[in-house]
Amino acid sequence: MPAGESFYITTPIYYPSDVPHIGHGYTTVAVDTLSRWHRQAGDDAWMLTGTDEHGQKMLRAAAANNVTPQEWVDKLVGESWFPLLTTLDVANDDFIRTTQERHEKNVQVFFQKLYDAGYIYAGEYEALYCVGCEEFKPESEIVDGTGPFEGLKVCAIHSKPLELLQEKNYFFKLSEFQDRLLELYKTEPDFVRPDSARNEVVSFVSQGLKDLSISRSTFDWGIPLPWDESHVIYVWVDALLNYVTAVGYGEDDANFARRWPAYHVVGKDILRFHAVIWPALLMAAGLEVPKGVFAHGWLLVGGEKMSKSKLTGIAPTEITDVFGSDAYRYYFLSAIAFGQDGSFSWEDLSARYQAELANGFGNLASRTVAMIQKYFDGVVPAPAEYAGRDRVVQKKVADAAAAADAAIEHFRIDEAIDAIWTIVDDLNLYITENEPWALARDEQQRGRLGTVLYTCAEGLRALAVLLSPVMPQSTAKLWDALGVEGSLGALTAQPIREAGAWGALQPGTAVTTLAPLFPRVEQTA
Ligand code: MSP
Repeated sequence: MPAGESFYITTPIYYPSDVPHIGHGYTTVAVDTLSRWHRQAGDDAWMLTGTDEHGQKMLRAAAANNVTPQEWVDKLVGESWFPLLTTLDVANDDFIRTTQERHEKNVQVFFQKLYDAGYIYAGEYEALYCVGCEEFKPESEIVDGTGPFEGLKVCAIHSKPLELLQEKNYFFKLSEFQDRLLELYKTEPDFVRPDSARNEVVSFVSQGLKDLSISRSTFDWGIPLPWDESHVIYVWVDALLNYVTAVGYGEDDANFARRWPAYHVVGKDILRFHAVIWPALLMAAGLEVPKGVFAHGWLLVGGEKMSKSKLTGIAPTEITDVFGSDAYRYYFLSAIAFGQDGSFSWEDLSARYQAELANGFGNLASRTVAMIQKYFDGVVPAPAEYAGRDRVVQKKVADAAAAADAAIEHFRIDEAIDAIWTIVDDLNLYITENEPWALARDEQQRGRLGTVLYTCAEGLRALAVLLSPVMPQSTAKLWDALGVEGSLGALTAQPIREAGAWGALQPGTAVTTLAPLFPRVEQTA
């Protein structure tokens, strides 16, 4: 994409009914990495995350803890959800809470418009509801309960009993949007990614759409419908609107025009809300549909979708306390094909930490800096003549940078990291092949030694730039050690799409000692 364009990207807004786990962290670091990449590419990047604070789930969590829902969300957001961003080193530009006035007020504006335009009508409703999903469940997601729930209908995702709800509701005429949605998926094949998600959505919509209940009248923890205050807006449609209210919908037209439409990254569990209901609501309101919806897979623990409600939840700090936030980010983003499910295990995490981060990237950085200190008094040597093998490195760096950027365009962070890692692997091999320690023993080889170490250091310069969206902390340390801030500027200001152009590192730059980027960890896990 051409530089300078708006790149507005969102995470789902999470339910603060409970504390965050590594699944929430996974989506958040993926979105953060994509937004950091685009920001570093000179795009007009904006990353939004936040919390989804209304609905029955929240009401019950608060009741179970003997506090009001507002007290509950304030506590959880303050004590757990804001700190998650620090824990994972996330550089979000905004954080929206659906209890904020900027949201509530403009959600009402939006629904009043839809009502005035005739897209909303009142009706009676009776259906099975899952509070865990905050959703009336379709037949296909209702199964027979087992164990304590024998004889009951349960939610296929939560395995908990469904509740039969019977009330007067307002409905959105979703059924009228089938053709326009199918047309959208056809004309914009990248609207839903990856292909597996797209196919699922197309087949779901092809089977016909039912109108959607958009209000509830049996409790009041939500945003009142402006024309009938005895109803609150259904939590899911309230939540979807965060993506527009956060950028000024209803009150700051200039900002809205600058940012909207967004890219949404979501877990595949909430794909239909984003790829079916959300664009239909926007079409009804006469607004642009999102630029795209990318559904990633589930983190599995012991073969099952990890979740707090099934007691498989792992807190992000359990990982970051031991391995650090860079390792968290690197591990989930590289080990799982973005868009597919992936199994988490402590063994896999520690093995990759050791092999790829400590021995691979970390060691490459430490020994390059140490050899420049030892053989050139800490000053980056000028390369003498480049030989064929040096040019192989140069080409690898250029190709990897281009491939990584192309992968990021497709939201394939894992492929981008794979491409970048070819530089790490090649430079480690290059050192083994060139044996700088042997060259150092021979005064005749002084020029060659300079070329080899310059090649390593310049490769590290490119690596720092390319990896900074994924691992902001260790790359910042490396940038410091390379001593390039003075000549090249801040790491996060390096144009990432030019990272592969050889020769940016100035010979004569003074390096400083680099402590191990990925220290040995105590194996307590
Ligand atoms: N509040 C809604 C979203 C509203 S968006 C307008 C919601 N919240 S949630 O707290 O349940 O978060 C769901 C999201 O968390 C998933 O879509 C996914 O991004 C992330 N994950 C939760 N569990 C996960 C896994 N086990 N694996 C991967 N991602 C997970 O749904």
